Amino acid sequence: MTKKFFLVFSVVAILAMLAACAPTAAPTQQQGSGETQAQAQPAAAGNCKDSPTPPPLAKKDTYKVGFSQVETNNPWRIAQTESMKAEAAKRGWELVYTDAGGSEAKQIADIESMIAQKVDLIFMAPRSEKPLAEAALKAKAACIPVIMLDRDVDHSIAAPGKDYVTMIGSDFVKEGEMAAEWLAKATNNKAIIIELEGTVGSSPAIDRKKGFDEAIKKYPDMKIVASQTGDFARDKGRQVAETLLQAHPDATAIYAHNDEMAMGAIAALEAAGKVPGKDVIIVSIDGTKDAAQAIIDGKLGATVECNPKFGPKAFDTAIAYANGETFPAKIVNPDRFFDSTNAAAYLPEAY
Ligand code: AHR
Repeated sequence: MTKKFFLVFSVVAILAMLAACAPTAAPTQQQGSGETQAQAQPAAAGNCKDSPTPPPLAKKDTYKVGFSQVETNNPWRIAQTESMKAEAAKRGWELVYTDAGGSEAKQIADIESMIAQKVDLIFMAPRSEKPLAEAALKAKAACIPVIMLDRDVDHSIAAPGKDYVTMIGSDFVKEGEMAAEWLAKATNNKAIIIELEGTVGSSPAIDRKKGFDEAIKKYPDMKIVASQTGDFARDKGRQVAETLLQAHPDATAIYAHNDEMAMGAIAALEAAGKVPGKDVIIVSIDGTKDAAQAIIDGKLGATVECNPKFGPKAFDTAIAYANGETFPAKIVNPDRFFDSTNAAAYLPEAY
């Protein structure tokens, strides 16, 4: 009787131990209604953190996805948000939308909230490269795949193809180069330049500066006399332009990393009694409606397009990822260029 009891007890104990060692349930984002086929899963949810590839996305009829926006203080961001919301509605996907209001701390908290809400995937427009790279790692550890939209993170902290799926966005270095080449032509290769930089530590600010500053080096009579951040914002751009114009009254050109700061610079020039487009030539990036109108009015010289309408491509990329496709580190959006020759034709479709 005692022998029998010990035999049964041992079998039960061994079975219990085996159950405890078995992999935990598949990540939550792989569960739920509408799922048609599960992809190969990491052994356990906790293993996503150390996986050499981003967490998989199950094939489903519909998804709950997050879109973490940086801020909504300019037309570019508003157009991007509208495009994402419209695409989610068109496809019948649930969109968890957050606006970080220009705060890195808030954006990190937004991502944490999306993780807690167990979204299937996160579309992230990271404010700056380093702090938001850490947030991407948190999503990965929670087995939630991330697709970067329009801005990237620091690859030494979080790498594409390993920690997140890919980044979709413009070639910011090329945008800076295009702005420089246009300015060189417009000024006969001779200019005293003020540069208004975007958000400190953000990939467009880093790369637009790199592209422009490098291209300008070819022209010995083109000199950047001041370069300061205006945080991609119109009012900050106006304030910074005002200060820098006082320090450099002989400036003949302004390169703004986005149209909003260029609009601020136009206001600063007018307040200083200068004529934008004549006394000081301005070139910028984005392609907003205000910028197209300013070109038509002769106040802005040119703008390099940075297309904000990410919705269709972002959602298509998520589906392709669920279908097992692999991607390059960056999916590059093609950009157009607008100056006095085509701004009027572009205006009706501008945002
Ligand atoms: O990341 C893209 C940049 O961010 C756009 O040029 C700017 O307007 C936005 O805020």
